[in-house]
Amino acid sequence: MLRSYFRRVPLLINRVDKHFVNTTAKKTPSLDNYLAALGKGLDFFGIHGPTADEITKDLDLSNKTCLITGANSGIGLEMTKVLSSRECTVLMACRNPYAANMVAKNVCGNSHRLKLYEVNLASLRSVKKCSDEILKQQAKIDILILNAAVFGLPWTLTEDSLETTFQVNYLSQYVLLMNIEKILAPDARVVIVSSESHRHVSWDFNNQLTPTEAMVSLPKSQYTSIRAYNISKLCAIHFMHYLSYRWLNSGKSVFCAHPGTFVKTRLCRNWWPYELLYTCMRPFSKSISQAASTPLYCATSPELNGLSDVYYKDCRRCEVSDLAQDLHLSFRICDLTKNLIRDRVSLTEEARVKELAAFPDQAKHTIDENTLVANYTG
Ligand SMILES: NC(=O)c1ccc[n+]([C@@H]2O[C@H](COP(=O)([O-])OP(=O)(O)OC[C@H]3O[C@@H](n4cnc5c(N)ncnc54)[C@H](OP(=O)(O)O)[C@@H]3O)[C@@H](O)[C@H]2O)c1
Repeated sequence: MLRSYFRRVPLLINRVDKHFVNTTAKKTPSLDNYLAALGKGLDFFGIHGPTADEITKDLDLSNKTCLITGANSGIGLEMTKVLSSRECTVLMACRNPYAANMVAKNVCGNSHRLKLYEVNLASLRSVKKCSDEILKQQAKIDILILNAAVFGLPWTLTEDSLETTFQVNYLSQYVLLMNIEKILAPDARVVIVSSESHRHVSWDFNNQLTPTEAMVSLPKSQYTSIRAYNISKLCAIHFMHYLSYRWLNSGKSVFCAHPGTFVKTRLCRNWWPYELLYTCMRPFSKSISQAASTPLYCATSPELNGLSDVYYKDCRRCEVSDLAQDLHLSFRICDLTKNLIRDRVSLTEEARVKELAAFPDQAKHTIDENTLVANYTG
């Protein structure tokens, strides 16, 4: 076995060389390009699994509509490209739709299959506006991929007074889903792009019994960017459990998918040591196309019909951490989430009442707070 691997080494060198000459060398040569080429060469041994293209090769998705958050970059962009090439209509929910449009037109062959929506997940107001637009324009969504995320940010609060990583990676996408739930197809699939890093959260027993805002939306004194990221990914798995319970007697299903570790995307852009680490790990980690394969497998594979509430890694079913398995905790986290949202919506409404007092002409557009809360929390 070892001997057969060694026999492949000259082929590997050849492959790295060829890939570098054919592709990356056309751009400015850089460490990143060399490492990408080396990674491609190493994958000659097939260690990183299939690509998104390979996993969806036999599918015709011409009658499907898929909404993807963070569809303009990295794994989200790759999924957009592959799904649109299978004739799926892709609704790209992006922070900067103009930039996203330019990127998508360059990368995706079937750009007529794409539609852009603007959303800033660091703002509940923006999430509401985006979901209203989607509800107005779309009759049905078959696949929803909650993919957007941030990592490595310094501590910041959003305009809704929540820690940014928590709100962007989890809470706002919870709100988006609940807002558009009524147009999810009866057999819709929801995929939450998750991460193995959910395993690194430790909460003591008392905290698990009564989760608080400070445990999920970290105050500055307890903040590290890794901790905030891990917590957001743990909450997302609990959201999967909650949804699958909510949809128990329906045809809707929900999965979590870990795309891969140290996949070199723009996720690591916020802090140079992370950028360096991800660059150095490039030869040993999945390519973006390989990373997109597990979420797309969950979103489209007929093999998963009838299943729900499952976590996938490398296109295989996988156990989540003990903390992520606790269904009681799932309900407590969802209750906490609803309370956090309710508080924020009331605050928004309070600000609006003040605004109306100053500009009475707008009174005819007053929104009923109960409807608003129901929209946000489902
Ligand atoms: N890369 C990895 O090694 C890895 C490992 C495990 C899990 N994952 C997960 O894979 C998913 C995709 O990540 P990626 O690696 O492809 O990273 P990426 O290239 O940085 O993509 C993240 C996307 O999220 C969007 N986003 C960030 N903040 C936003 C906001 N406030 N409002 C709206 N959109 C926002 C980004 O939009 P902008 O372009 O506007 O910033 C971007 O489109 C994430 O859920 C991540 O946690 C990645």
